[in-house]
Amino acid sequence: MGVIELKNVSFTYPNNPVIKNMDYEFQRGLVYCITGKSGAGKTTLLSMLSGIMDPTSGYIVYNGYPIDESDRYVYRSRDVGVIFQEYNLLPKFTVRENIQLSLDISGKKLRDLDGFGTFSNKKDYVDQLIREVGLDPEEVGNRRILKISGGQQQRIAIARALSFQPGVILADEPTGNLDIDTSIDIMNVFLHLAHELNRCVIIVTHSPQIADLADVRLDLKPLSRYKKV
Ligand SMILES: Nc1ncnc2c1ncn2[C@@H]1O[C@H](COP(=O)(O)OP(=O)(O)OP(=O)(O)O)[C@@H](O)[C@H]1O
Ligand SMILES: [Mg+2]
Repeated sequence: MGVIELKNVSFTYPNNPVIKNMDYEFQRGLVYCITGKSGAGKTTLLSMLSGIMDPTSGYIVYNGYPIDESDRYVYRSRDVGVIFQEYNLLPKFTVRENIQLSLDISGKKLRDLDGFGTFSNKKDYVDQLIREVGLDPEEVGNRRILKISGGQQQRIAIARALSFQPGVILADEPTGNLDIDTSIDIMNVFLHLAHELNRCVIIVTHSPQIADLADVRLDLKPLSRYKKV
């Protein structure tokens, strides 16, 4: 059983069918890259996987349960970590506050979390997350979001998505604004999460170089079934 599965999923915007009869099982421990032409339906697919939109028909299953039957808010705040291209961090808050808020919203306690060792307080845990994405918490932890670079913001957006240890991490063009070296660094963070911490990571990218680093590449064709390449 995959951690997240598409069961005969179709999606149609008014007069615009985008995804038709798609079946797929995403597994833990792997990084998936979804590629495909602009308009192929990549963002639409991620929106359904993240529980933001419902399929027009078919359904999405998380850990064996269809997400339309579970509490949507719980799914989105606890089970799936989403990283947007525009980061969507809270600019007036510090790096540490952005990460901790997301943990607090999930309702998870430190004792519910694993994989990062045992932490007696949230700050130590948050600092470990900042290190996990390759930054120094002493240097950036107390800075406001607007006072760090775009690449650093992207790393913090990843740390925030990881804060509540979701089973699935979804990212829409997470390296779209970054230079290739920084993009490869970020990709290595995703590979570490999948391979060492057994997360399922699904990212959309236009970059063939980034897609080549993934474990599995899915090429979404406009209005046809996905094709594995
Ligand atoms: N809110 C919407 N209402 C109607 N049509 C939409 C809406 N959002 C997207 N579409 C259409 O659905 C199709 C798929 O859009 P989607 O955003 O999923 O593509 P994409 O593969 O993410 O493209 P890109 O690479 O440009 O981000 C496109 O034809 C788009 O115009
Ligand atoms: Mg898109």
